[in-house]
Amino acid sequence: MALRLGDDAPDFTAETTHGPISFHEWLGDGWGILFSHPKDYTPVCTTELGYMSKMLPEFEKRNVKILAISVDPLSDYKGWVQDINETQNTTVNYPIIADPDRTVATLYDMIHPNANDTLTVRSVFVIGADKKIKLTLTYPASTGRNFDEVLRVVDSLQLTANYQVATPVNWQHGEDGIVVPAIPTEEIPAKFPKGHRVIKSYLRYTPQPNL
Ligand code: BEZ
Repeated sequence: MALRLGDDAPDFTAETTHGPISFHEWLGDGWGILFSHPKDYTPVCTTELGYMSKMLPEFEKRNVKILAISVDPLSDYKGWVQDINETQNTTVNYPIIADPDRTVATLYDMIHPNANDTLTVRSVFVIGADKKIKLTLTYPASTGRNFDEVLRVVDSLQLTANYQVATPVNWQHGEDGIVVPAIPTEEIPAKFPKGHRVIKSYLRYTPQPNL
C-alpha cells in the first residue's frame, strides 16, 4: 500500500554513490528528503539532480539530508554525475541510491505500473526527525519538479511542528502565519507576543514566531 502522511518511513540498507547506507542510521536525528528519478542519462533528471546539489546548503541549514534514487546500477552513476556537474555547473555532493533490484523503490511505492512498469516515477518524500513521512509528491516523468517548493514546505513543516500556527497560501519564510483554530482569540496575546490581526473569528494572523 502507498505510504501516507504520518506513516513510519521504511528503513532500508542500500548501495549509494557514497557507499552503503543504512537509512535511519544515516538520517540520525535530522530530517531527510528521499527523491526518485526515472533514469540516469536523461535530460530532465540531469537538471533536477544538478539543482538539488545547488540547494543542498539551504537544506543542510535546516538539518535536512538529501538522498536520490533510481533503479539504475551503481556503475552508471559515475559518468552521469560528471555530466550533471559539467552541464549544470555544480558538484553533486549528496548520495544517490543504486536500486537495480527495486528494493527501495518497492518499499516506497515509486514504481507506478500504469505510468511505466520498469522505471521509478518522480517521487519526493520529506521525512521528519521522528522518521515519519511528512510530505509525499508524485510527478510524471515529463515534468521536472520545483525543489524550491520542497524547501518552502520544509520551512512550513519545521515551523508548524514547533508553534501552534499553520501557513497560508503561497506562504514564504518570513511571512505571517495563521494561528490554529484551536486557540481562542483571547489567548493569542499570551501565546504570540509579537502581535496578531483578526480578519474573521477563524482567520487570525501572527508574525512568524520563530524569527
Ligand atoms: C528525463 O529525465 O528527461 C526523462 C526521464 C524519463 C522519461 C522522460 C524524460
